[in-house]
Formats: sequence, C-alpha cells, structure tokens
Amino acid sequence: MRKFSVLIGICALVGLALTVVGQEQEVTQALSPVMKDVGATLQSLRRNLDAKSAADVAKDAEKLQTLFTQAQGIFKANKVGDAAKAAKANAGTAGDIMKAAKENNLDAAAEPAGALQKTCKACHDLHREQLPDKTFKFKP
Ligand code: HEC
Repeated sequence: MRKFSVLIGICALVGLALTVVGQEQEVTQALSPVMKDVGATLQSLRRNLDAKSAADVAKDAEKLQTLFTQAQGIFKANKVGDAAKAAKANAGTAGDIMKAAKENNLDAAAEPAGALQKTCKACHDLHREQLPDKTFKFKP
C-alpha cells in the first residue's frame, strides 16, 4: 500500500513536470514569431519617430497594439497572469502612441514610446531565458 502511494506520488510529480515543460514550449513557440515582429516594429517606430513621419509612426504603433494583444492572449491562455497584464498595458500604450501620431502630434507620441520601450527589459528579465544556442525561451 505504501509502495503504491509512493508510486502515485512519483506519477503526480512527473505529470506536473511535464505540464510545466509543455507550458514552456507552448508559450515559446507561439510567442517567438510575435516577439520577433515586436522587435522589428519597435525599431521601425524609433526610426519613424526620428524621421518625424507621423503616418508611419501611427502604422507601427497600430501593429504593436495588435502584436501585444496577441501576446496577451498567449500568456492568458497559459495562465501567466503578470505577463498577460504587462502585454495588455503595452497594447494600451501602443494605442496612445497611435492616437497622438494620427493627430500629427509626435511630441505627445514620444513619451508613451519611451515608456513602452522600458517594459521590454522588465518582462524579459522575469520571463525570458537565453539558451546556449542564443535562441530564447519563455520561463514561467
Ligand atoms: C510581457 C512580457 C514581455 C514583454 C512586455 C516583451 N517581451 Fe519580448 N519576449 C518575451 C518572452 C517571454 C520572450 C522569450 C520567448 C520567445 O522568444 O518568444 C521574448 C522574446 C523576445 C525576442 C526574441 C524572439 C525570438 O524568439 O528570437 C525579441 C526580439 C523581443 N522579445 C522583443 C521585445 C521588445 C522589443 C519588447 C518591447 C517593445 C518586448 N519584447 C516586450 C516577453 C515579453
């Protein structure tokens, strides 16, 4: 009976470990293309802010809004509450940039753009891990 309980305990632990590994892989696979796009779009946004090209800033901001909404969905589906919240806030901030750019007010767009950029490192420090082959994975 005792041996049996131990066996059940071991099975439960293995099951838990597999669930965590499964979640890590699932988030990483779904998020990687979104994040690559976030990286490229943020660079474009910065270039377009420097070039004072309001229409292009608005386009980039709209794309970032969509991308962070997607990221929010991925985190939420995998029950990573803090990251889902941060991604949602970023979608909102991107919306603020878009609104200002559409009003041709790039001075007002600069502040939320700076704020958005600071969130990258905050979340990466918590939830991103670089692997020996230099690719990244999600860490819970
Ligand atoms: C709420 C959390 C969160 C925020 C905010 C966030 N990221 Fe990420 N990012 C991650 C996680 C987790 C990974 C690792 C998994 C992956 O690669 O998809 C990652 C990976 C990346 C990668 C590597 C993608 C790859 O697989 O090669 C880039 C580039 C990136 N993020 C850019 C950004 C930029 C730029 C910002 C800010 C505008 C940002 N991220 C904001 C969570 C976040």
